[in-house]
Amino acid sequence: MRRIAVVPGSFDPVTLGHLDVIDRAAGLFDELHVLVVHNPDKSALLPISQRVSLLEQAIREAGLPTNIVVASWSMGLLVDYCMDVGASVLVKGIRSQVDVAYETPMAIVNRNLAAVETVFLLPDPANAHVSSSLVRQVAGLGGDVSPYVPRAVAEYLERSRV
Ligand code: PNS
Repeated sequence: MRRIAVVPGSFDPVTLGHLDVIDRAAGLFDELHVLVVHNPDKSALLPISQRVSLLEQAIREAGLPTNIVVASWSMGLLVDYCMDVGASVLVKGIRSQVDVAYETPMAIVNRNLAAVETVFLLPDPANAHVSSSLVRQVAGLGGDVSPYVPRAVAEYLERSRV
């Protein structure tokens, strides 16, 4: 049986921390879907299509495994996407106790909704302080975000000066 997992998130934009988790997860499953999902609780910087495009570029340029698929989802529950593609596992990166508190209710709800389990991965501690919200703030104020994001993202933010 093929083991298929989904790494969901806003990816607004993808960071080096995300890439690290995606790389680790790709080694654990036969097929890994990196899924860009609109989060209504966050005000977005980039359109979904741009986030997908930057993820695809970053994954290609970092030479990540070829069992990774990038997609987006806006039509309902995350577990509906999992059912559509035959995924039984969600993967999330956990940087701190704050992340545990944020992720735990979602993991339980997703398990109750559709028996989809959530696996938490610990990222490289070098990325423990990196978040998309920090990147959005620094970039928005004209700072250098290149230590925190893939080259494609740094170049895009520099070009668009968003
Ligand atoms: O990167 P984020 O913003 O922390 O990701 C949160 C996300 C998009 C994974 C979460 O909001 C989500 O799962 N949204 C899909 C809607 C859904 O299925 N909700 C019910 C179960 S939590």
